[in-house]
Amino acid sequence: MSTYRYDIEHKLGSLQFIKNIVYYPSVESTNTATEKLAHGGSEEWTVVVADSQNNGRGRQGRLWHSPPGVNIYTSFLLKPALSYEHFPAISLLTGMVIAIVVERFTGCDAELKWPNDVLVGGKKISGILLELGHDSRNKPSIVVGIGININSDIEDYPEELSVSATSMKVLTDTTFDRAGILAFLYRIFHEWYTIYCTRGGFNGIRDHYMQRFKMIGRHVHIDNGAERITGFVKDIDAYGGLVLKSTHDETIHIKSGDVHVIPERE
Ligand code: BTN
Repeated sequence: MSTYRYDIEHKLGSLQFIKNIVYYPSVESTNTATEKLAHGGSEEWTVVVADSQNNGRGRQGRLWHSPPGVNIYTSFLLKPALSYEHFPAISLLTGMVIAIVVERFTGCDAELKWPNDVLVGGKKISGILLELGHDSRNKPSIVVGIGININSDIEDYPEELSVSATSMKVLTDTTFDRAGILAFLYRIFHEWYTIYCTRGGFNGIRDHYMQRFKMIGRHVHIDNGAERITGFVKDIDAYGGLVLKSTHDETIHIKSGDVHVIPERE
């Protein structure tokens, strides 16, 4: 048995809320594997971890670079007893938890870019892909997929990523125990998820998210696939939507899309 697999089973196995741990040395995508488990009737808190992915999926149909032996690729199944409008902001909750984890292990300040990018020094250290679906009993389920760059040397990444991405190792010149970070991540996620579910969704975690959200007042445009929307960031609403003020003074609530900050003129 590989040490990573052994460490995962040992360290995650001691967390009581985790119902089932599925490990793959290599898998197409941990999200796809978790969706299949959901359809097969798996319980909430079924966790999938892979050492590498050969078709790791990112947001907006992008690929997630997933080399072996260095990073975290994990997905897990949630079946929240919440009304649907509180589902999307679970992705903001996940970004906030990863920011806490990165800060704890690196000592660096992490910043959140809506909806869930975690940046350190302006570079992306993690990616989150939330997918909504139904389990075998037609109950709503969410697959939360997380990739965190831990021990990767980013200069080995494809060129477009090597300028925009970072890893914990690049930030600290230290190699980390991935299974230890995973166990911490799941423990903290469980704590914050409990708060999220019992204290009104995003409003229950708002202060901790906003501490790391530096986009208020920034001039941005958002491509949501169909159109480009431009405005100034005003707030985040109770359901995790981005609130913009347009140049015509209208308030716009954005539910999804990629945000691009428009640089200020000198
Ligand atoms: C993004 O585009 O920023 C989201 C990337 C999400 C990547 C993670 S890695 C584990 C899980 N499995 C996948 O196929 N994707 C997510």
